Amino acid sequence: MTQVSEQGVLDALRQVRDPDLHKDIVALGFVKDLRIEGGDVSFRIVLTTPACPVREQLQQQSEEAVRAVAGVTSVRVTMDAEVPKGRGLGEKVTVPGVRNIVAVSSGKGGVGKSTVAVNLAAVLAQDGARVGLMDADVYGPNVPLMLGAGKVRPEISGNKLVPVEAHGIKMMSMALLKPGDEPMILRGPILHGLVRQFLQDVLWGELDYLIVDMPPGTGDVQLSLAQLVPVQGAVLVTTPQEVAVADVRRALRMFETVAVPILGIVENMSYFVAPDTGTRYDIFGAGGGQKLAEAYGVPFLGAVPLGLEVREGGDRGVPVVVGQPESVQAKAFRHVAEEVARQVSIEAMKPELKIVMSGA
Ligand SMILES: Nc1ncnc2c1ncn2[C@@H]1O[C@H](COP(=O)(O)OP(=O)(O)OP(=O)(O)O)[C@@H](O)[C@H]1O
Ligand SMILES: [Mg+2]
Repeated sequence: MTQVSEQGVLDALRQVRDPDLHKDIVALGFVKDLRIEGGDVSFRIVLTTPACPVREQLQQQSEEAVRAVAGVTSVRVTMDAEVPKGRGLGEKVTVPGVRNIVAVSSGKGGVGKSTVAVNLAAVLAQDGARVGLMDADVYGPNVPLMLGAGKVRPEISGNKLVPVEAHGIKMMSMALLKPGDEPMILRGPILHGLVRQFLQDVLWGELDYLIVDMPPGTGDVQLSLAQLVPVQGAVLVTTPQEVAVADVRRALRMFETVAVPILGIVENMSYFVAPDTGTRYDIFGAGGGQKLAEAYGVPFLGAVPLGLEVREGGDRGVPVVVGQPESVQAKAFRHVAEEVARQVSIEAMKPELKIVMSGA
């Protein structure tokens, strides 16, 4: 009987490439705990995110590759994930324990930033990632309501705020701190201080992703936020109408100025699916977000249809991906979340890939 060697198995696994990182899974260090007992082979594949969109593909390809090695009688692959820490944060406020900060932004108000932020956080949490959600919209903070935690007051531990937990997400918002709904009129410096506090004086603990729901617009406030928060990347939300698209262009430039990478564009309220017939209506015309992404050379993260379920979920405090996971809208949000996770991994792995390539 042919002796199965570690080298033979690893060589077979080198045929399996990560389609995004353009390297094989052995070179990427994804293969761990390889055990060979006679013809029985087992190992773990440790991915860069539990929400990896190519998870099944990699699992299947690895299994097939090893099965083809002479002498192998059984293969057991365990899929696992460890989210790598994002790269260089420069002069910005650092948040120990937080691996990646993702800002959800838009040029215009009311396009669904908060809805995207909440559902994005919820999907990542459902997939087993440790997720925080910071409501940086100091003017109209509505994340707590969308998570059904509008009345919760955060506890204080030492001199730090304990984030409120809802649907597996650790959350902090202005709205939790001051009773009443009156909009906050904040001047730049005060706002700066507040955001700094939300980053430093909140006990976020160990997080794979901290999602930041940004206030609308591309004014000074947004600019200084983008400069202050150590963001790994920004997700831009748009709706298909031409005006919103023009606003996204401005937002793209804003992030460019402060050297924050754009993870991609989400087109929200993109089309309508009639609940009775399932027919799709492209109310505002199709493909605006996709075209915009192509024009600016940034990834298109997906389109989310209009749906009553989405608004109702927000109003009820149960994100649609939690309350109605089988709905078209939930599936669309899930796709977006997986794309975001993929782009964060690509961004986080960039310096490492550069080093590997320049050293080769
Ligand atoms: N895909 C969707 N289908 C139906 N309703 C939606 C969808 N996305 C968002 N909404 C609804 O649209 C309204 C605005 O959404 P949301 O508050 O998320 O936008 P926003 O960009 O965060 O707004 P603001 O700029 O005020 O912060 C909410 O009532 C929300 O429930
Ligand atoms: Mg909002």
